[in-house]
Amino acid sequence: MKRLVPAMAAFAAIAFFVISCTSEPSQTQETPMETQKSYSGKPIPEQFDAQIDSLIGQMTLEEKVGMLHGTSMFSTDGVPRLGIPELKMADGPLGIREEISRDSWAPLGADDDFATYYPAGAGLSAAWNPDLAYLFGQSVGEEARARGKDVLLSPAINIIRTPLGGRTYEYFTEDPFLNKKLTVPFIVGLQENDVAACVKHYAANNQETNRDFVDVQIDERTLREIYLPAFKAAVTDAKAYSMMGAYNKFRGEFLCENGYMLNDILRGEWGFQGIVISDWAAVHSTVKSLENGLDLEMGTPKPFDEFYLADPLLEALRSGAVSEAEIDVHVKRILRVLFALKAMGGEARPEGSIHTEEHFGDAYAIASESVVLLKNEGALLPLTADGMGSIGVIGANATKKNALGGFGAGVKTKREVTPLEGLQNRLPEYVEVRYAEGYLERYAPKKESVFGEVTQERALTIDELDPDLLEEALAVAAQTEQVILFAGSNRDYETEASDRVDLKLPFGQVELIEQVLEVNPNTIVVIIAGAPFDIGSIKEKAKAIVWSWYNGSEGGTALADVLLGQVNPSGKLPWTMPKDLMDSPAHATNSFPGDTTVTYSEGLLVGYRWFDTKNIEPLYPFGYGLSYTSFEIGEATPEWEIYAPSDTIRIRATVANTGTRDGKEVVQVYATARDSRVTRPAQELKAFQKVLVPAGQTKTIEMAIPVSELAFYNEESRSWEVEPTWYDFTVGNSSRDVQVRFSVRVE
Ligand code: BGC
Repeated sequence: MKRLVPAMAAFAAIAFFVISCTSEPSQTQETPMETQKSYSGKPIPEQFDAQIDSLIGQMTLEEKVGMLHGTSMFSTDGVPRLGIPELKMADGPLGIREEISRDSWAPLGADDDFATYYPAGAGLSAAWNPDLAYLFGQSVGEEARARGKDVLLSPAINIIRTPLGGRTYEYFTEDPFLNKKLTVPFIVGLQENDVAACVKHYAANNQETNRDFVDVQIDERTLREIYLPAFKAAVTDAKAYSMMGAYNKFRGEFLCENGYMLNDILRGEWGFQGIVISDWAAVHSTVKSLENGLDLEMGTPKPFDEFYLADPLLEALRSGAVSEAEIDVHVKRILRVLFALKAMGGEARPEGSIHTEEHFGDAYAIASESVVLLKNEGALLPLTADGMGSIGVIGANATKKNALGGFGAGVKTKREVTPLEGLQNRLPEYVEVRYAEGYLERYAPKKESVFGEVTQERALTIDELDPDLLEEALAVAAQTEQVILFAGSNRDYETEASDRVDLKLPFGQVELIEQVLEVNPNTIVVIIAGAPFDIGSIKEKAKAIVWSWYNGSEGGTALADVLLGQVNPSGKLPWTMPKDLMDSPAHATNSFPGDTTVTYSEGLLVGYRWFDTKNIEPLYPFGYGLSYTSFEIGEATPEWEIYAPSDTIRIRATVANTGTRDGKEVVQVYATARDSRVTRPAQELKAFQKVLVPAGQTKTIEMAIPVSELAFYNEESRSWEVEPTWYDFTVGNSSRDVQVRFSVRVE
């Protein structure tokens, strides 16, 4: 079946396992080829089952029920007389949340709950580096252990369907492949510390508007190909120990009582062995929830006894509406997780560590690879401090902190280096740094919002500039040699529980940027945000644009290092930046946000799949990001030309650094099926690899694409199907960059 591609035959014969990494093309160093690491998790052990059954046999009904619902804001009851501990949980995606009261959201005011603030999801995904996702999981896992937590409510991996989504900053990406490639190593790293991941929010929770009740309608193929792959990989590859049921409904049923999603797909098809934990106050029934797959109800401060899986469950037992055997099923799952985490069973657990220099270093490592260089006309960047007399730093985002803010989980930390501090720390003392706030973060008065209430009122901003601040900013711009303007958004403006109403940069920032650019046309614009914004006019007028994120404790340090050239930027956009909101699929199809129901009318064409299929030019494409050096992908050759569906396509690609600085490039491989009998997106990401190439050298990388990755989900047969046909691949450094093409045939 397999046939060698002629050009590849010689290559393969000479050096299949040899890398070429040369400063002169004639020299070949025999160092190992760069391949991707693969990550897989350990399943929940079965060896404790007999012990667990015996424990269950000794438990009273009340003790069992106490394990199935929150008895504080973030824990459940244990059974001390039997040595069963509480199950302790913590948010979340940005690091270990501060301790709150047992029965309300009020901070506990402790002085030992400082934690490392890690880059938010969009920052991690912009690094396009699975090894950093693993590092993140490892590092935050150690922090969770140090705080005595069993479950971390992370990662948050819902697909970015609309750029307006309030949690875009927290989630990873619009692409299911990138999503799963980051999700799996994150979970593996985390769970290696004996902390369970709680992968959220399962599933089809892609908007905040009406999230408590909106009924999401997605066709089956789109569900399988776009919205579920990362959740599936979390179970089948990473062996996640828990999953969070989302607030909303899917096809008419709330997700915490959705038998199709929980029992049929999650447990039935994927073999999930862990526990399903509800989102906070996402449960709507007792018997139905339990029977349809929910294990644990968590929530907000109504008396814990009144939870659906508390007194009402005891009531249902007494009336015969639910059996004790059913309850035992759920208790057993929780006990298995407690044993898997070594919270029981006597084996030692890692002690962990928190808020340490090492962890700040981990946060820095992620942040420094996530910054995206969008534009760099005339090589304005990196800045040279040598001989620089003064620098003007303008914009409230130069000093804004984002570890806390908005509605939703943040981190209490003593270390959040702002962009201004980052520059001050890194610039030589002789450079005079002058700061002007430029714009004010101001909101129109809002009514008191209640937990869980979805309101867009945060989006009502005051968009006029303050004349005095403007004057001060323009004076700084006129009187300093180099100007950097820090603009964008923040975690009060982009927040859980509400979606944005438009893509506009708030607080009058566009006007500020335009006026400053008139005074100093070499002003570097840095946008700090977690989601796309309309920066079309800035792209036209500014010569240099850098994009950074809610980037953790060392975000300002990483940013300064990029601006000053200590770090060569290697971040790539994890989503498409549209020119106009109405170019985006959910908006072009007028299917966001719906009211009681939302139908995902764009189907498979989420993100770049829509822009590329419909030939719409984005402002910046998915996968885009520049470097201070230049790269050329010289060749990309598959090992064979013809494959069977169970094969793996191995591609060898060369990446030359043709510039004068060492740098990292993300090689991206997109595929399309020729003459498919089903409609397919114009192209889909099927492999990527980040590689460090020293200046003037060439590296060879090997990427592996299992042929099964080329399958589509056949709704009729309800299975994945690899079509026998030709597949055309493009290789480049963004979804719109094609440097090399190759094709293979599947028979
Ligand atoms: C969020 C979850 C979070 C939970 C507990 C909910 O509002 O949707 O992501 O883990 O609160 O804080």
